[in-house]
Amino acid sequence: MRVVETDVLVVGAGPCGLTAAAFLAMYGVEAITITKYPRTANTPRAHITNQRTMEVMRDLGIEEQVRAVSVPNELMADNVWATSMAGKEIARVKTWGTMVGRKADYEAGSPSAMCNMPQHLFEPLILQGAVDRGADVRFSTELTEIAQDDTGVTATVRYRHTGETYLIKAKYAIGADGGRSTVAEQLGFTLEGETGLGYAVNIWLEADLSRFRAHRPGVLFWTAQPGNDFWLGSGVFITVRPWNEWVLVFMYDPDTEEIDTSEEAMLPRIHKAIGDDSVPVTIKNVSTWQVNHVLATEYRRGRVFLAGDAAHRHPPANGLGSNTSIQDAYNLAWKLAAVLKGQAGEALLESYHQERHPVGRQVVDRALKSADIVGRVPSILGIRPGQTDEEGWAAIDGFFADTDDGRRRRKALEDCLDENAYHFHAHGVELGQRYTSVAVVDDGTPFPAYTRDPELYYHPTTHPGAYLPHVWVERHGKQISTLDVVGHGKFTLITGIGGEAWTAAAEKVSAELGVEIASAPIGYRLAFDDVYGDWARTREVTDGGCLLVRPDRHIAWRSHDKADDPVSVLREAAKSALSRT
Ligand code: FDA
Repeated sequence: MRVVETDVLVVGAGPCGLTAAAFLAMYGVEAITITKYPRTANTPRAHITNQRTMEVMRDLGIEEQVRAVSVPNELMADNVWATSMAGKEIARVKTWGTMVGRKADYEAGSPSAMCNMPQHLFEPLILQGAVDRGADVRFSTELTEIAQDDTGVTATVRYRHTGETYLIKAKYAIGADGGRSTVAEQLGFTLEGETGLGYAVNIWLEADLSRFRAHRPGVLFWTAQPGNDFWLGSGVFITVRPWNEWVLVFMYDPDTEEIDTSEEAMLPRIHKAIGDDSVPVTIKNVSTWQVNHVLATEYRRGRVFLAGDAAHRHPPANGLGSNTSIQDAYNLAWKLAAVLKGQAGEALLESYHQERHPVGRQVVDRALKSADIVGRVPSILGIRPGQTDEEGWAAIDGFFADTDDGRRRRKALEDCLDENAYHFHAHGVELGQRYTSVAVVDDGTPFPAYTRDPELYYHPTTHPGAYLPHVWVERHGKQISTLDVVGHGKFTLITGIGGEAWTAAAEKVSAELGVEIASAPIGYRLAFDDVYGDWARTREVTDGGCLLVRPDRHIAWRSHDKADDPVSVLREAAKSALSRT
């Protein structure tokens, strides 16, 4: 049998696998990425794209391409609940950083705005980014068996077009093969949690609904009709293209309903959710999926890593699925590159589980809690399974009535929508990952306390383990984010006025360890000019201090002030962050 050798095998070419492929290629690592399908995602699926994900794309150099295709943040604003698209509006809330009281938080937190980027449009751009950087991505190539020993991973793959089976031998593998991961199953990864917590149908369709949506632009439109108390109500329209392409998602109970996905069965449902039978509708695809609440107990077994949905599976509430998957890959790629290039010790790879497993835990739990909060809306409106249409419409009328019950229910809805901030404005969950791991050198101080709700608000800090805070500085007369000063596959030492000794130390340690440590002086009239003084207010170290920032923009180590022997302290810090003995 033919044998192909490589350094890293990436199983899966969804958002996670493609991001891994792109960054491994960018870092000069030999890798093969396989997907059993002949193409990238053929339906929209994930769409909410958060700021951290856009920053990953920024580092890859494709942010502008993504932005050009996406639905911009200002059109993500209005989350609407109504009896149908054409029907009575029940409630409206601003989402994803568009609310007046939250705009500043989002703008201050990142140089990149959130956007709505349907997965079938997003994946080809990441693929192009990967291929442009030399990635080897193989379509229609299915993993059938995988095994590992102390020296490497052996995968049996089948090229589906010819039926040829061959072996791929790799030093490491990433299981980015989604919610039904063969890698997880065959290599004995343990997954804990519950599956089958709900069943849903996605209908991807074209219909010009501009007259119902353009004046209240947004990403999610929730319909509430008698009889359906599912958390997605009677169906949610997800915007794919404004305002003529959508995914209508509705839930069903397989114990009481058998879903017929034929066009004849789907069209009446779609028209009911639109509330106007005269609207022409073209169905592009119908698929089913189930709600899970599952997390791998370990993200690494030997030479194999789980990433993306293979490691964490949860409802789409909060829109964190593909975002977290992309960010897993960003975390892991530079570590594999550093180990394979001999720049880091093997132990660095332990930090992947240490850093990303807690993130997975938070995301999986947050998604389930958010689904629960938003799922209270139908019952507040008086919608119950088994009720007649008359009972249901009367209950909705009662919600608007000048009665004690109407007032009580309207207040209950207001409270519920306020609590939905944890669903639609969880900025702290989106941006606020703080790592504690072998790849972070503690400076003996505690992480700063949260001054606001840690899930709703992002608290930037330069404490080791945190993500580098974004502020705007100036370079050659152009505005540039501190996030753009770092990344690009290398470590960066951020210094301030009087930081020449740190810069010299970075050069020396870089040469000694064979690891690129770039220097970036940020401060008043330095190379990166802190024109507004925002960096001085944010950096939490003195002018004489420094920050050592990892390729994934997390802070590995910091020194509060000048050091007597900068070379030796920087050398020790870099060696520790790279698990070098
Ligand atoms: P993904 O499942 O995308 O990819 C798996 C890859 O593995 C595929 O390329 C497949 O071919 C490959 N593969 C599988 N088995 C293989 C084998 N044996 N051999 C070779 N290849 C194999 N997320 C989000 O962030 N924001 C959002 O708004 C939403 N919204 C949303 C709505 C709905 C309705 C759904 C169903 C889901 C979402 N999501 C989401 C979740 C999102 O779709 C999901 O988290 C990502 O697709 C996960 O990306 P991965 O790359 O991990 O797996």
